[in-house]
Amino acid sequence: MRPTILLTGKTGQVGSELHRLLPKLGEVLAPGRKDLDLLDPAQIRRVMQQAKPQWIVNAAGYTAVDAAESDQANALAINAEGPRLLALEAKKNGAALVHFSTDYVFEGLKMVPYLETDPTNPINAYGRSKLAGEQAIRDSGAIHLIFRTSWLYATHGRNFLLTVLRLATERQELKIVDDQIGAPTCAADVAAATTTILAALMAGTKSQLISPDLSGTYHMTAAGQTTWYEFASAILDEAARATRNLPWLASATNGRPLPAARVLPISTEEFRSPTRRPAYSVLSNACLKEAFGVTLPDWRTQLQRCFSPERFPANPPAAVSSR
Ligand SMILES: NC(=O)c1ccc[n+]([C@@H]2O[C@H](COP(=O)([O-])OP(=O)(O)OC[C@H]3O[C@@H](n4cnc5c(N)ncnc54)[C@H](OP(=O)(O)O)[C@@H]3O)[C@@H](O)[C@H]2O)c1
Repeated sequence: MRPTILLTGKTGQVGSELHRLLPKLGEVLAPGRKDLDLLDPAQIRRVMQQAKPQWIVNAAGYTAVDAAESDQANALAINAEGPRLLALEAKKNGAALVHFSTDYVFEGLKMVPYLETDPTNPINAYGRSKLAGEQAIRDSGAIHLIFRTSWLYATHGRNFLLTVLRLATERQELKIVDDQIGAPTCAADVAAATTTILAALMAGTKSQLISPDLSGTYHMTAAGQTTWYEFASAILDEAARATRNLPWLASATNGRPLPAARVLPISTEEFRSPTRRPAYSVLSNACLKEAFGVTLPDWRTQLQRCFSPERFPANPPAAVSSR
């Protein structure tokens, strides 16, 4: 029998891709925020008790890193309390919870990729709220997979890729931070890797959803590393090379031509953001490979694929439907 999968965050960068992919694996229930608000504990319990999913994939989250500084209660409620309740309900029903977390749980003082076992120490409110969510899920005793990813972008939503493209149509010079190092990761690749892992786990299902050995936290980012400055430069290089008409690119630039905007490297100090961000937040993906045999492509390859007309054909096939 096909399992029931409850997906939250279907309008988000990762969630929308999962909404397209997960129907291959089971019956997907994907309530929007109106029908499942992570700020509403009674609604969370009600939806979970009615749907009784075998799998919960929580792609919802409070992701506005700067706004979280002055909105900590909401960030905590959505990133920690909501996931805690999902996990408690999952535990009651013997279901498994898949959840996404962030490189910002680390303070960023290392010079080599962070391991899952490295101590956490978030330096901003968003990171603290996500870490609290991780801990609440572990404490619940539910079977869980927490995938920590980083610097997410997609061809829709709010992200660095689309911001750079828009700014390049408005300004001649873009000043971009060059002393924060991380791994820009395409949401579509995170969704694809998650779906591959779930497919393998579901295929192996006997009496339990996941072997207790596999339940835990895994890093899931693009391979390689770069800075925001190098990433911005690569985005504009790819955009300049994109010869064919890509609907998402036309929409990102409002149909305007992309002038050759100059990208200038600046320091975090010069950028003067009120929000602290880790200087180095590259994550080692060795555990993901070892446990599930899954590796995400290099960040540059992921970026190039966004500009590939094969990935975004002019007449895309109709999406698989699900509730
Ligand atoms: N973005 C990044 O750079 C990044 C980096 C590392 C990890 N992550 C993590 O990866 C996951 C997915 O991120 P993303 O960038 O795909 O997210 P996103 O594009 O910002 O989408 C967030 C989703 O959460 C939903 N949501 C927000 N508040 C909600 C609430 N109170 N109740 C129910 N749904 C709510 C949104 O719904 P509406 O459309 O109704 O607002 C949207 O569908 C998150 O856990 C995030 O913390 C993100």
